[in-house]
Amino acid sequence: MHTEIIHITDLTGSSAEISLAAAVIRAGGLVVFPTETVYGLGGNGLDAEASRKIYAAKGRPSNNPLIIHIHDPAEADKYAYTGNLYNRLAAAFMPGPLTVILPKRECIPYATTGGLDTVAVRCPDHPIAHALLKECGDVPVAAPSANLSGKPSPTVAEHVIADLSGRVDIIIDGGESDIGLESTIVSIGHDHEGEYLTLLRPGAVTADALTCVCERVVIAPAVLEQMKEGERPLSPGMMYKHYAPATPLVLLDGAPEDVLAFLQREQAERSCAILCYLEEMPFLKNENLFPVGGKDDLATQAHCLFSLLREADKAEASVMYAHLPDKSGLGLALYNRMIRAAAHTIRRV
Ligand code: TXA
Ligand code: MG
Repeated sequence: MHTEIIHITDLTGSSAEISLAAAVIRAGGLVVFPTETVYGLGGNGLDAEASRKIYAAKGRPSNNPLIIHIHDPAEADKYAYTGNLYNRLAAAFMPGPLTVILPKRECIPYATTGGLDTVAVRCPDHPIAHALLKECGDVPVAAPSANLSGKPSPTVAEHVIADLSGRVDIIIDGGESDIGLESTIVSIGHDHEGEYLTLLRPGAVTADALTCVCERVVIAPAVLEQMKEGERPLSPGMMYKHYAPATPLVLLDGAPEDVLAFLQREQAERSCAILCYLEEMPFLKNENLFPVGGKDDLATQAHCLFSLLREADKAEASVMYAHLPDKSGLGLALYNRMIRAAAHTIRRV
């Protein structure tokens, strides 16, 4: 398949490109587009055949459901049964990096939801994504992250081209994704105490921020720990092997000076790739160092993580080291992605 790559820097002069991309989606084709979290691999969410094509292009198991993307949070009503808590979440966080799981309406095929009776809905905050979704009109766009299954989510078009060239109709290059980690996913539950949110995947909308809209936020155990054998996942994505670099990644836990001393010793002994903080650079040999940002600059760390993991893996070192993130605020999303990439390998130093 020929993949057309479209570069968009200035949206005002690009209405023809957006119309073309929307026409391709409406006709059942596949278009990769940028969002503020990561790039998405989009197809017609109402068309079971288009969803099957998405799974095939990614090499993804077809029971791992897709998120449908809409240009206006109010559109969710056409595809799902919303309600008061959805409306409050939408008012607080949409457009933005939040995905809400809702009971699906009949128009959404089971091929899109991986056979589930629920559907994931998200309204991205990115001008190109917004223009494309608007142009798609009454077609919601089903879009997983635009990586091959088993690779990190793409945050620049180059990652997408490396993974999906020849597998999709169009790739829209809209520059770097701002946030760099996938959206926060929540589901809505009710019990005798009332309604609550379950955090299925942490992202830039933090647990604390969610608490402002719904007092009770339960963090699904699989966010922090490895799922036990035979455990039923709350979200199918939890059960799949996630991206892990070919170079084994080890997360270091300890006092900052102890971690630094450990890294210095390791650099003297073996070839290692290190995802370090900017502050540590003067104290380490400048060899296979991949600065993730300042120690307390979690936004930059999130922005760079997936890109640096791809880069650090190319160094072909014998081991890759990174700091075990703190679990507060945006740190929970970093922690969740990194423990998976490290296959839960944590070393206390
Ligand atoms: O930021 C994002 O969310 C990006 C951009 C492109 O929007 N998309 C993304 O999609 O990360 P994907 O498919 O890579 O991850 C979606 C996750 C999967 O782990 C899937 O299992 C879960 O959402 N999911 C989708 N529908 C679900 C549902 N009905 N119930 C529970 N989990 C669901
Ligand atoms: Mg993904």
